[in-house]
Amino acid sequence: MITLKSQREIELMREAGKILAECHREIAKLIKPGITTLEIDQFTEKYLAKYGATAEQKGYQGYPFATCASVNDEICHGFPSKKPLKEGDIVTVDMVVNLNGGLADSAWTHPVGIISEETQRLLDVTKESLNRGIAKAIAGNRTGDIGHAIQSYAEGENFSVVRDFTGHGIGKSIHEEPTILHYGNAGKGPRLREGMVITIEPMINAGKWQSKMDKNGWTARTVDGKLSAQYEHTIAITENGPSFITEEV
Ligand code: MF3
Ligand code: CO
Repeated sequence: MITLKSQREIELMREAGKILAECHREIAKLIKPGITTLEIDQFTEKYLAKYGATAEQKGYQGYPFATCASVNDEICHGFPSKKPLKEGDIVTVDMVVNLNGGLADSAWTHPVGIISEETQRLLDVTKESLNRGIAKAIAGNRTGDIGHAIQSYAEGENFSVVRDFTGHGIGKSIHEEPTILHYGNAGKGPRLREGMVITIEPMINAGKWQSKMDKNGWTARTVDGKLSAQYEHTIAITENGPSFITEEV
């Protein structure tokens, strides 16, 4: 069932989204060669606590950390670790913030130090593919319009779109209906309506789209060992079009 959110619920989510966006900006300043993703995770927990917010991912279906930290060929749900990041890496930090029951979900991929031109292109295309998806998050459109916009752009840039993980509705819990595919056909899927709140979170690969699962049962990585990037925003469908809950990157 797809639930429509009231103005008040959307406001609560927006408050969570502000803290989340600010936390991402602080993390961006911290990331440099030598820092570990476990340090970033601990920073995040403390940062959220300072604002009376909590990390909704921690304990969600048994997930053990406040953030997901996916490095290089890791697509998503990477476990924060004690391994230092090194120059030229990329790391996707994904988190869901809960403030007074309002949830917001957003991921950014950060460069570590200086990255290659081709890696920068992957980041730029991933961010642009998210923005093209968001532009289709309009009442009256269908979910497939979002996926089609993302896939046609990303593949046109010679990258591939991960199929095994999707965007989703979000509200009282992290994952609600509808499922938002980042690929597929325009004009297909459920119709978007005012009051729906969804995430759009394309994971774009430098090589093949297929993923494989680590032994930890959570972390997905690319089958060919090539890089994967992701940007995610929580978006409300409003009478004025798509509205950022988690603030533009
Ligand atoms: N932001 C992540 C997603 O949309 C949340 C995953 S829940 C977790 O998939 F428990 F895996 F962290
Ligand atoms: Co999400």
